Amino acid sequence: MSVRRLAERQPPSFAFTAENLAWAKAQIDKYPSGRQQSAVIPILWRAQEQCDGWLPQKAIEAVAEMLGMAKIRVLEVATFYTMFNLSPVGKYHVQFCGTTPCMLRGADGLKKVLHRLIGEENEVTADGKFSWLEVECLGACVNAPMVQINADYYEDLTPETLMQIINDLSNGKAPKSGPQIDRQNSAPIGGPTTLTDPSLYEDSQTSGPVSAALLDDDAKKPGKAANVHEAPIPKPPVADATDPRQK
Ligand code: FES
Repeated sequence: MSVRRLAERQPPSFAFTAENLAWAKAQIDKYPSGRQQSAVIPILWRAQEQCDGWLPQKAIEAVAEMLGMAKIRVLEVATFYTMFNLSPVGKYHVQFCGTTPCMLRGADGLKKVLHRLIGEENEVTADGKFSWLEVECLGACVNAPMVQINADYYEDLTPETLMQIINDLSNGKAPKSGPQIDRQNSAPIGGPTTLTDPSLYEDSQTSGPVSAALLDDDAKKPGKAANVHEAPIPKPPVADATDPRQK
């Protein structure tokens, strides 16, 4: 991963819109008292959306102030995650996965296409439409190689299909996201290869026999909500000066 620095040219100020401010406050309220800093990622994300896909320094500082955090702490988050862009991006920002599974499946060819059609990494095309960045695994390795463009994944790519997608976007068309081959999501190419015996699913019919698993009393008990637990809230590090309980 390359060094990530703030852009040289920065806007002089940042303020959330009234709508985004209300949204940010609602996110903060989701966390227990003293743990509001946990909202840093969604609020940075909203700031990035408001700033056309990148995070100016003033936005990072505004988020720090909102959450009572040291500016450097928020900067650390923004510089660590490649989902946060520290300089302006194109209307279509391509995150190209360069991690091993995608590389083994031909990501190198995709990278050449990005160089040829868009240009250097982290640069915006003259028409403002495109930029690209190499990132670590985007969690879609089964559909390698792949890229993310804005919020959509484009998977099972070849240099040709990636070229087509970029050309379509450039011409105002909306290319199909997801696998670019005949495959349902991440199912095996050519269709299912396991659990193909229909008798396996008879239990799911109301008239079918009831399986041993459904006779298990424990299995019938309603589960607790995922966000309810008895564990105590972990204490912050002793020297954490940004934690309100240390004051
Ligand atoms: S390695 Fe590319 S999505 Fe995981």
